[in-house]
Amino acid sequence: MPSVAQPHVVVLDGPDEVAARAAHEFEVRARAAIAQRNCFAVALSGGKTPTRSFELLASPRFAGKIEWPRVHFFWGDERCVPPDDPASNYGQARTSLLAPIHAQDKSVHRMRGELEPHEGARDYTGLLSRFFGGGPIFDLVYLGLGPDGHTASLFPHSQSLEEAVSACVATHVPANAIPWRLTLTYPALNAARAVLFLVTGADKSDVLHRVLEGPRDPASLPAQGIAPAEGPPTWLVDRAAAARLQAHA
Ligand code: 6PG
Repeated sequence: MPSVAQPHVVVLDGPDEVAARAAHEFEVRARAAIAQRNCFAVALSGGKTPTRSFELLASPRFAGKIEWPRVHFFWGDERCVPPDDPASNYGQARTSLLAPIHAQDKSVHRMRGELEPHEGARDYTGLLSRFFGGGPIFDLVYLGLGPDGHTASLFPHSQSLEEAVSACVATHVPANAIPWRLTLTYPALNAARAVLFLVTGADKSDVLHRVLEGPRDPASLPAQGIAPAEGPPTWLVDRAAAARLQAHA
């Protein structure tokens, strides 16, 4: 069994500090990627946690710091709903970041949740192939962590965990209020140059402990399957979420 590189865990005071560090990492990595390749390809996560960091990036604090026309926005997952649905991950990012920075349409590559799910997955896989000229290599991927150990929309014991070829698949999660979702797969996520998990709140302390310090079981804890080739993910967590960590506190 190959050894698993130790994750890099950064414990910060609270959600605002996590958001500030996440925004700082975005700026640093965007500037480096644009300097090297004239482009920064970033995959955003959904859920509630990243919103504050998106709002920060759109605030005067970051004005003039990032060459937005060189930033290309993608998503790690999407709910199968129209883009103007309150549950849309794209819609959330549009409100908190894309509209305030006047992101150009040609730089925003959303998953089309309005399509039939399997068609939406094929559509996004094709979009990524055309943009990257093959499999996607994101400069940065943001991920969250669900209480059940899911990340993106890679849910425990789902077929999507086995996908070894397509960059994006449709996944059916009956227990979810929105049961159909689109998600990047492990091949797409693990090809990224860098992965940042953002985890805050006491309700995540148990799952964060199990993912980082419990037995390795990616089928039950899909976040454990995130292992980028270029180096382990960085976890930006607040003290409440880190409360049960032994080795990383
Ligand atoms: C989604 C996300 C999902 C999210 C986690 C954490 O579409 O919901 O991509 O993976 O990151 O469920 O969500 P919170 O940040 O809301 O806790």
